Amino acid sequence: MKTIKLLVPIMCCFIALSSCQNSKANKSKTKSLSLTSVEHIEQKVDALLKQMTLEEKIGQMNQYSGFWDLTGPAPNSGNAAKKYEHLRKGYVGSMLNLRGVKNVRKIQKIAVEETRLGIPLIIGFDVIHGYETLSPIPLAESASWDLEAIKKSAEVAAEEAAAAGINWTFAPMVDISRDARWGRVMEGAGEDPYLASKIAIARVKGFQGSDLSQNNTIAACAKHFAAYGFAESGREYNTVDVGTSTLNNIVFPPFQATIEAGVRTFMNAFNELNGIPATGNTYLQRTILKDKWQFDGFVVSDWGSIEEMVAHGHAKDGKHAAQIAANAGSDMDMESYLYVNELAGLVKEGKVKEAYIDDAARRILRVKFELGLFDDPYKYCDEQREKEVIGQHAFHEASLDIAKKSIVLLKNENQLLPLKKQGQKIALIGALASDKTSSLGSWRIAAKDNTAVSVLEGMQAYTGNQLTYAKGADVSLGQTKFVDELNINTTDRSEFPQAIAVAKTADVVVMVLGEVGYQSGEARSRTDLGLPGVQQDLLEAIYKVNKNIVLVLNNGRPLVLNWHQEHLPAIVEAWQLGTQSGNAIAQVLYGDYNPSGKLPMSFPRAVGQVPIYYNYKNTGRPLIPIPNTVFWSHYQDVENTPLYPFGYGLSYTTFEYSALQAKVVSDKEVNVSVTLKNTGKFAGKEVVQLYIKDHYASVTRPVRELKGFELVSLKPNESKNITFTLSEKELGFYNNEGEFIVEPGDFSIFVGGDSNTTLQSKITL
Ligand code: BGC
Repeated sequence: MKTIKLLVPIMCCFIALSSCQNSKANKSKTKSLSLTSVEHIEQKVDALLKQMTLEEKIGQMNQYSGFWDLTGPAPNSGNAAKKYEHLRKGYVGSMLNLRGVKNVRKIQKIAVEETRLGIPLIIGFDVIHGYETLSPIPLAESASWDLEAIKKSAEVAAEEAAAAGINWTFAPMVDISRDARWGRVMEGAGEDPYLASKIAIARVKGFQGSDLSQNNTIAACAKHFAAYGFAESGREYNTVDVGTSTLNNIVFPPFQATIEAGVRTFMNAFNELNGIPATGNTYLQRTILKDKWQFDGFVVSDWGSIEEMVAHGHAKDGKHAAQIAANAGSDMDMESYLYVNELAGLVKEGKVKEAYIDDAARRILRVKFELGLFDDPYKYCDEQREKEVIGQHAFHEASLDIAKKSIVLLKNENQLLPLKKQGQKIALIGALASDKTSSLGSWRIAAKDNTAVSVLEGMQAYTGNQLTYAKGADVSLGQTKFVDELNINTTDRSEFPQAIAVAKTADVVVMVLGEVGYQSGEARSRTDLGLPGVQQDLLEAIYKVNKNIVLVLNNGRPLVLNWHQEHLPAIVEAWQLGTQSGNAIAQVLYGDYNPSGKLPMSFPRAVGQVPIYYNYKNTGRPLIPIPNTVFWSHYQDVENTPLYPFGYGLSYTTFEYSALQAKVVSDKEVNVSVTLKNTGKFAGKEVVQLYIKDHYASVTRPVRELKGFELVSLKPNESKNITFTLSEKELGFYNNEGEFIVEPGDFSIFVGGDSNTTLQSKITL
């Protein structure tokens, strides 16, 4: 659609006005509303708002789920007839879970051609790690630390989803979490606010591109605001109580980063925060997000979260919940059906200011204009494009690229890996090794089952060895979307003997074990972080006959791997890697890709350590034991440290760090340099990580904080000097009044290949 630029603002108002008035009669006028500048959009929004009835404005604030996929419990009032009736009246601003050009066009047509003002719908969908061609789950992608590859992955996701009629994704999830019990850690970037902020920016830029009005970019949504990842005891939807310092320094930064990146929408959260549900939280949505951060996009509730304020014990009934949410700054109601039914009455009773309705509608319309939906409401509805774009070869290439980069080598004794390409007998064992669905992970509504490359297929591409496969045992006895029906196999060991026989004669045994795809994600909390079902038994049975085991893990969260670390020679963390999973794993096992991933979350030694994270506080009685006494901060039965720390990951080569220097340039700037050398036999890539420790401050600081990283590729024997500049942003922190400050004092600067690095230099600011 060609855009026509009008130069006279007043003209633009007029056109906005007349186009909407005549929307049924003359669609081409709607399409001619094509000015792009911010002011012009504001004028168009103003003009449109002036024409809208209170009910129509509230309609913009109402979002319904489509008619097929459910990503939350079905509300009682969610019948299709009602949705169509509301659509026709212009009482629906957005639909979610509507996908495929044919379906989207059908519904968009009602909004554009049958309603009084013809305002197009914004079509949302959970494009979390791809649409149909899936990339690794977000936690896995984060292990790549590769911002370009992560951005590319979001670009691909946006392009595929946009081709299927979607123009808004409910991603990225930027919730920090320190709790592997929480199933949604698979959807975030892990435990660290610095890394997560960089990744959040990459994802937003990937989804939204540089021009939201293009037909291959979609609006992003930073979620879930805020602190959802701090659900008590890792139990989904649970209460959250976090203090000011954690909120400002750990929870908020990735959200703030998405605003820097220009994110157009936010989603609030299911959890209460310090006694007030996030959905009805004025401090979060108005004071912080809209006032302090000047966010001018809109906030959508989470699924039914407005109504859930009744169960939380914060609202008396649905009507009261709508009042609280609207006053607190929740602009759009996802699937509570409360705004559409209650808000007009609340305004008339003076319980919700009409100015709040205007503000919410304005924000929503603004994003619709920015997306170019008024220029062409069907710009995402091109059947031909849908056919050509979805599943493109280039998307599979991008998915393979990031899948390889997401793999983390946890252990590799005696250089068992990479596997030799010739003359070996390899036993491949585990139900997940031949599975073509599980590695698609959670959040894969639009992907077809059985479309992932399995590890078996990936390894079969290497023909120089003799490869024999045995399942050994099922992980689940039937996998469905809902975890309670996952039916984990805890009894059936009938296929153990066959796997043992295959393992006995093998030179190397590759065992693919872990969680099935739907064992992490929303509502999939676990209290046991071991291998589910009979898999541990299978592993130990195989170990008895052949110790030369490479354990390949498929999982959506950190697991407890003590036995594995102690006994097995090689462990590969391969998460759930999406459509190209098996190819990526095979290329790493055979050394065609030298693993370079680093953990974005600490792996505990015991569930009892959780929440466990590298940037903890020292306490008054820190880790160094006080001799002959028990009175220091520790456990009696397990050491404080994680099994694998944040930032950890091996390579087939080795790296040496030296010549660390830190120099104070001014009271708010420090230059750091270090030399990195590849001391092994393979070319490889290292994620050089810089941490600081602020030794004393008016608000205590963590023992370490990541403040810089760089991906460095080196050939054997090659060295490189790497430099970092730490500015105010990296050296400062938020005090408990929410002010960002840099305090003078002593700092340690650490550089190395993980958060345990000991190479350090000291400075005084
Ligand atoms: C999730 C959101 C998601 C929404 C729509 C909710 O259950 O918490 O993250 O975007 O459903 O599917």
